[in-house]
Amino acid sequence: MRTANSALRSKDLLGIEQLSPEDITLILDTAEGFKEVSERPVKKVPALRGQLVINLFMEASTRTRVSFEIAEKRLSADTLNFAASGSSVEKGETLIDTAENLMAMHPDMIVIRHKYPGAPKMLAERLPASIINAGDGGHEHPTQALLDAFTIRERLGRLQGVNVSIIGDIAHSRVVRSNIHLLTKMKANVTIAGPPTLIPMDIERMGVRVVHSLQQAIQGADVIMMLRIQLERQGKLTFPSLREYYNTFGLTPERLRGAKEGVIVMHPGPMNRGVEIASDVADGPWSVILEQVTNGVAVRMAVLYLLGGAHMGGE
Ligand code: CP
Repeated sequence: MRTANSALRSKDLLGIEQLSPEDITLILDTAEGFKEVSERPVKKVPALRGQLVINLFMEASTRTRVSFEIAEKRLSADTLNFAASGSSVEKGETLIDTAENLMAMHPDMIVIRHKYPGAPKMLAERLPASIINAGDGGHEHPTQALLDAFTIRERLGRLQGVNVSIIGDIAHSRVVRSNIHLLTKMKANVTIAGPPTLIPMDIERMGVRVVHSLQQAIQGADVIMMLRIQLERQGKLTFPSLREYYNTFGLTPERLRGAKEGVIVMHPGPMNRGVEIASDVADGPWSVILEQVTNGVAVRMAVLYLLGGAHMGGE
């Protein structure tokens, strides 16, 4: 039975910025319940039977697209994957026209990834379906931050007071924006590190500490989150070379010798091995990178389930 405090207040999930700490805790607690479903011989529950979810991915994705589809199937929803390639988008149809035509076929939820910040909000304002942001340009990637928080909480038992250092291409990352919103709301301590050219001038206003060396960022961290250098979003390299970047900010086993006992290393993927992270770290005992991927299914099941309630007439 769904109760007033067992569904999200909003029709949509557009970003972490709009969520309260209680919303975040509700999603993480719900995901904890769903994680076990993926370990059963029959990996399915009937929670969203009869609901149609459209996955509208207009930008490349492996983890997010696949795990949303798996999450939808595990909740027994009907799913439809829409890719721009091969559709009338190639003939110049706009996002709004595309979405309104899809809406005419009565989906209950639309999961959207788009290169333009604000594309999910634009759909949410026009369409009655629940809109879930699966990454919009450099703005937000809320389900990534939720799965990261789930992984930290599962490994360390809490979020409050945890020291999280996020290192790399801060300027071009939607993952970091969502993570900063989430971690500061949940009272974790966030440190940001990277070359000055890859750190926005006013990032401290988001409640984070900024350092410019990897060593300072590693010292005292419970969690080290490495970010991908987003070569596709940089017009040109904003540092001398990828080799120089690795020599200064690449996470190696040698550099982890200065880390706290029990530190965990995260990465949202896809990784540039040998640029921001050495393979020996990505595949080593510190790494929880594939756990993040596993947890992504449970977290997306929770988000779909909690938003799906909006279409169940408050049953
Ligand atoms: N972390 C993430 O969003 O990965 P994908 O781009 O492969 O979905």
